Amino acid sequence: MMLAAVPGLLTRLPSYGKRKVKAANILASAPSDRNLGAFQDLGCRTTHCNSEVLQRCTLVFLATKPHLLPGVLQEIAPAVTRDHIIVSVAAGVTLQTLQQLLPAGTKVLRVMPNLPCVVQEGAVVVARGSCAGEQEAALLRSLLSACGLCEETPESYLDIHTGLSGSGVAYVYLFAEALADGAVKMGMPSALANKIAAQTLLGAAKMILETGEHPAKLRSNVCTPGGTTIHALHELEKGALRATVMNAVEAATMRARELGER
Ligand SMILES: NC(=O)c1ccc[n+]([C@@H]2O[C@H](COP(=O)([O-])OP(=O)(O)OC[C@H]3O[C@@H](n4cnc5c(N)ncnc54)[C@H](OP(=O)(O)O)[C@@H]3O)[C@@H](O)[C@H]2O)c1
Repeated sequence: MMLAAVPGLLTRLPSYGKRKVKAANILASAPSDRNLGAFQDLGCRTTHCNSEVLQRCTLVFLATKPHLLPGVLQEIAPAVTRDHIIVSVAAGVTLQTLQQLLPAGTKVLRVMPNLPCVVQEGAVVVARGSCAGEQEAALLRSLLSACGLCEETPESYLDIHTGLSGSGVAYVYLFAEALADGAVKMGMPSALANKIAAQTLLGAAKMILETGEHPAKLRSNVCTPGGTTIHALHELEKGALRATVMNAVEAATMRARELGER
């Protein structure tokens, strides 16, 4: 079913509660056993022969490092038929490049995951090539919803998704660390502060998703006039938190575009 493993994304498809795919129906291929062991442990079949995947499977995930992907596409192109659905996870390799290196008419899609797929709370976006239809996009959305939120977007959003969510995970970790450090400074033990900081992020995120309210509305609901929160928010505004985070998303998006153009 796939040519290579993305630890944390594809390995989760057969392993978790939503069980969208039987492990025995997955065939993973890579040159060595380095990542294949994780698939074997889940009960997936493995091979070192990419063309075997094309012969046996119609839905094929390509998850090599981006610079290796053109070589893999050239290798598999003769075996690709109109029945195959080819899905690339490789960052920066465009639908145009994928379509150019595969036979005309091939159904091609791109997927951009993020790290929390490992706990089934990922944010995944899918973009489809000109020959992939609603049916293929719906199949992917259904499969990848096992990894968290999955949305179909135009291809131009994939780099923005990297800036917002792929890299965004790291900004949130930094914020969680700072939040806990503040509590440690005020006298709370570090382990407890880290746990409460993480739960605060989780709860706040859940409220945004479950209420559908704009974050600004939820934030203003917490601000009692003259209270603790508005005093703290004033400090964050003085530190330009909002502009700094916007700059971070912009910088990561621009870098993703730059890497894709190489
Ligand atoms: N991890 C994420 O959260 C994430 C997020 C967004 C995008 N991505 C994309 O996911 C891709 C994989 O990243 P990674 O960090 O998971 O890399 P990785 O751990 O190095 O995995 C890449 C796999 O590709 C295999 N491979 C190498 N050459 C191959 C070939 N010719 N045919 C078949 N398989 C081959 C490797 O085999 P060996 O095990 O034998 O070396 C390895 O198992 C990248 O394109 C990256 O841009 C990952």
